[in-house]
Amino acid sequence: MQEPHRLDQTTDEQWWRTAVVYEIYLRSFADGDGDGVGDLTGVDAHLDYLCELGVDAIWFSPWYLSPQADGGYDVADYRRIDPIFGDVDTAQKVIAAARSRGIRTLIDIVPNHISRAHPWFEQALHAQPGDPARGRFFFRSGKGEDGSQPPNTWTSEFQGECWTRVEEADGTPGQWYLHLFTPDQPDLNWANPDVHEEFADILSFWFDKGVAGVRIDSAALIVKDPLLPDVPETVHPGQHPYLDRDGIHEIYRSWRVIADSYEEPRILVGEVWLPDLDRFTAYLDGTQMHTAFNFDFMVQPWEAAALRSSIERTLAAHVPIGAPPTWVLSNHDITRPVTRYGREDSSFSFASKRFNIACDLERGTRRSRAAALLVAALPGSLYIYHGDELGLPEVEDLPEWAIQDPMYVRNGRTAPGRDGCRVPLPWRAQQPGCGFGPPGAQAPWLPQPSYWSSYAVDRQQEDPDSMLNLYRAVLAVRRATPALRESGFAWLHELAGRPLPDSVLAFVRGEVCCLVNLGDTAVSLPADTQVLVASDPHAQATGIISPDAAVWWRATHKE
Ligand code: NOJ
Repeated sequence: MQEPHRLDQTTDEQWWRTAVVYEIYLRSFADGDGDGVGDLTGVDAHLDYLCELGVDAIWFSPWYLSPQADGGYDVADYRRIDPIFGDVDTAQKVIAAARSRGIRTLIDIVPNHISRAHPWFEQALHAQPGDPARGRFFFRSGKGEDGSQPPNTWTSEFQGECWTRVEEADGTPGQWYLHLFTPDQPDLNWANPDVHEEFADILSFWFDKGVAGVRIDSAALIVKDPLLPDVPETVHPGQHPYLDRDGIHEIYRSWRVIADSYEEPRILVGEVWLPDLDRFTAYLDGTQMHTAFNFDFMVQPWEAAALRSSIERTLAAHVPIGAPPTWVLSNHDITRPVTRYGREDSSFSFASKRFNIACDLERGTRRSRAAALLVAALPGSLYIYHGDELGLPEVEDLPEWAIQDPMYVRNGRTAPGRDGCRVPLPWRAQQPGCGFGPPGAQAPWLPQPSYWSSYAVDRQQEDPDSMLNLYRAVLAVRRATPALRESGFAWLHELAGRPLPDSVLAFVRGEVCCLVNLGDTAVSLPADTQVLVASDPHAQATGIISPDAAVWWRATHKE
């Protein structure tokens, strides 16, 4: 056994260091009012479900007033809740009701862009070029004699152009505005003091309402080079025209001051997609974000070497700075794990998404069960996207008319968008819409496939070997086992004196060991091993860990 990494102890104020956070993509979780769209009363009705699952916090996808051009990531008013989801009073009730069950609430904050329907953008559209109202955005004249070429060659994060030309008040073609995502999401100019003030106020607004923290959308994109140059061939770290610029950190430092000003400090969680882990952890220096999503791990294929090196990279980057890693298998943008892990290429990238990729769902499900044990045993916090605890597959044959994801439209409908992981949850197998809404409700906003009922919560509750009951068991053991929150981490290289093959990931955390078999042959535990939880009922009963299975057991030695 090698020298274990030491991790900071967790106090209640430090809850976020080891929290299990459950992402609710609000439109798709539960429909309380029967309009076919998930909402806050739907969440309220299922808080006991979350309690039984054993989560410490909820993260809500954006609930603000929005034309829903990108699932709410196009905010028209940050201080109002979209009526399809409820209102601020209901939100406060849900926050309080969740907290009374020991569950904190995180909300999404979207600082890179707003909606075209936001009053600021409407003012900018009606203003003249050069007017301060345009200074909150990136309005620029086009290139070429008649200004008909976009101001630079950047491309949208959703493919295609990221500039749209506006018509000026006199009806002539005018300036262009920048949108790193869709034209419905104009980018804000963070060099403008109004933007800083506004977001400081929005943070306080929600923190005052009892929100425990924010998940920061597109967090590494918000600062731009004011000259908006083309992206050079060689980019020096921190000098990219819009990604991870050095100047960004002072913004998050100012947010941290706001978060820390509360008696129970609020937390900042960053959506930071950066390949360079040192650049990534620069956001976690103790003065900015508390944690950030570990996409490096999330995109890895189901292969021992790839997962092992990502875990090592992650720990090596986080431990020295005292920041807890996060472990994420998916979210509302990512192909569902049971589908991804059932494919020949089980890595994830947006660019490699295709229709009709062969998938062995049974294998993907076995692997996802094992992955649940893996991520729940690693040091740090854990993010679970709703429906992964049910083992829901990606739905890639949604009818064309139903699809709403702008990513799909912008890729020319050539590859699946993200709606396949957003299909409304099945609660009750025998009810219309699988009980997504109350009796008599409209059909769910995305149609559920015919097999959806077999994944329903009520069915899974009855089945001791279901994915849901596995998640419950895993989270219950995690909660009851201080070692899984407080202890260090060390790889195990042998078991009962016999070397473990490279295709096995095994590690120890205090008195708990975790072993994930990614190889082709079974691994046997010593006869007297006390198994705590296993991804495969067979392993629990026999101590034989088949390929694509994982197990936790109580170690006989101490670190
Ligand atoms: C990341 C969010 O997760 C995604 O759903 C959204 O489309 C983009 N940011 C733009 O806000």
